[in-house]
Amino acid sequence: MDLKGRVIIVTGAASGIGEATAMRLASEGAHLVINDINGQDLRMTGEMLKGSGHLQLEGDVSQESTAKALAQAAEETFGRIDGLVNNAGIHYIHDINEITSDDFDRVVGINLRSMFLCAKHVIPAMLRQRQGSIVNLASISSYVGQEMEGKSTVLYNITKAGALQMARSLATRYAADGIRVNAVSPGATHTNQIIHENPNRGAELEAQIWMGAASATPLGRVAVPSEIAACIAFLLSDEASFVTGTALIADGGYLAR
Ligand SMILES: NC(=O)c1ccc[n+]([C@@H]2O[C@H](COP(=O)([O-])OP(=O)(O)OC[C@H]3O[C@@H](n4cnc5c(N)ncnc54)[C@H](O)[C@@H]3O)[C@@H](O)[C@H]2O)c1
Repeated sequence: MDLKGRVIIVTGAASGIGEATAMRLASEGAHLVINDINGQDLRMTGEMLKGSGHLQLEGDVSQESTAKALAQAAEETFGRIDGLVNNAGIHYIHDINEITSDDFDRVVGINLRSMFLCAKHVIPAMLRQRQGSIVNLASISSYVGQEMEGKSTVLYNITKAGALQMARSLATRYAADGIRVNAVSPGATHTNQIIHENPNRGAELEAQIWMGAASATPLGRVAVPSEIAACIAFLLSDEASFVTGTALIADGGYLAR
């Protein structure tokens, strides 16, 4: 997966899958523009990256100004944009009767509007180059209903289904322009997502969640972020030159049951 010299934007790069993806892409020789709303942890990711000249841009990627600034920073510094990893996202566990319309807008904003905005602002450069690859983080939650701790993940699931559909729709629209768009659908992956969803849950309940996820997975364990990063790197690379409009499901067999 030679990504030498490729210019790639990664959102949500301060933690978990985004951090592992940034590390993998940098080790494959890419020039990165990394983003996160958490500036302190973003700087720590930046310090771990191989190579030099990577850019960091702190900001809320559900806001158009951030998406626009990411595309501008890549173009002004590197002169092109070869890849976008729409990774920033939050988990959300609430039954529908508990979800206010403000909650709905906030979660859809972070998980889905962010992907729409970033794609919107990188596609003009990719069209000029007649080359580009976009990867949206979908999930096993794109496909099935799910409950956690006795409550639904309905709102999260809707956003992840949207991430997959956006990949398909952009893929067919821009295939003739040399732009490939795909999704990666991870199963349970050991990151800070569960802590970020509820910092007050406590270590014991968190451990129970991971154990439950592992036992629901045919491989008998959850993923580590580098395993998902490898899938993302593949889709960004020329190794995936005939792959567009699809999802790479990396779920340890969860959806095969
Ligand atoms: N961990 C899993 O089991 C799993 C499974 C399937 C899909 N995913 C998806 O993978 C992606 C990464 O999740 P993760 O598990 O690494 O979670 P994580 O919580 O460890 O990392 C997510 C990162 O996104 C950042 N972020 C949140 N809101 C943001 C915003 N508005 N603007 C910019 N950055 C923001 C967070 O600060 C954090 O650094 C998400 O889209 C998630 O839905 C995760």
